[in-house]
Amino acid sequence: MVYLTYPNISSKIYMLKIRQENKNDYEEVYNVIKKAFETAEHSDGNEHNLVVSLRNSSSFIPELSLVAIQDKKIVGHILFTKIKIGNNEELALAPIAVLPEYQKQGIGSKLIKEGNNIAKKLGYHYSIVLGSENYYPKFGYIPAIQFGIYAPFDVPSKNFMAIKLNEPDNKINGVVKYAKEFGI
Ligand SMILES: CC(C)(COP(=O)(O)OP(=O)(O)OC[C@H]1O[C@@H](n2cnc3c(N)ncnc32)[C@H](O)[C@@H]1OP(=O)(O)O)[C@@H](O)C(=O)NCCC(=O)NCCS
Repeated sequence: MVYLTYPNISSKIYMLKIRQENKNDYEEVYNVIKKAFETAEHSDGNEHNLVVSLRNSSSFIPELSLVAIQDKKIVGHILFTKIKIGNNEELALAPIAVLPEYQKQGIGSKLIKEGNNIAKKLGYHYSIVLGSENYYPKFGYIPAIQFGIYAPFDVPSKNFMAIKLNEPDNKINGVVKYAKEFGI
């Protein structure tokens, strides 16, 4: 008799799949973002609508709108959009959302790592993020000021972070210009 051994299926992260978002996902993604931000520490209650606007903007990069699938449903989403720093086109990570009941299982981490990998392959030099100084440094983000990248609003420098994905040809130094959909 042949016995098959399976990986520990109680470790659900094993079943997680990350892929590019497609049009059929839009409604589910909308609800994931809405639910995730309902209980978030910082939210303007509009992140789900922001993503709809960003998808229709010139800052949208289809390869950098990713969904996390588990239990045959979308449980997480991450979006990186184009920003300008001087003449350079770089990226902003925002927003990222994981359904409350699926949080703290490593799904957000996988979305960020996969997003950063794709962004690196696409040739971007920097990805910036506004957020917790306790979360994003786990993925290599450090205060953006250390790269000469500045926020277009008042924020503690520890919360405005960036990761270098590829070495830029020119010295980058300047204030971030977000897509106008952010309303900044
Ligand atoms: C932020 C978020 C995407 C993280 O997803 P996740 O799948 O829970 O993250 P992971 O499981 O990979 O990592 C969890 C770890 O990060 C920490 N963490 C998660 N969100 C954090 C936050 N906002 N600030 C500080 N730490 C945070 C958790 O405490 C946990 O730490 P531990 O591993 O030491 O216990 C998720 O909590 C979420 O959707 N939050 C609501 C929306 C939001 O605030 N998005 C970020 C702003 S754009």
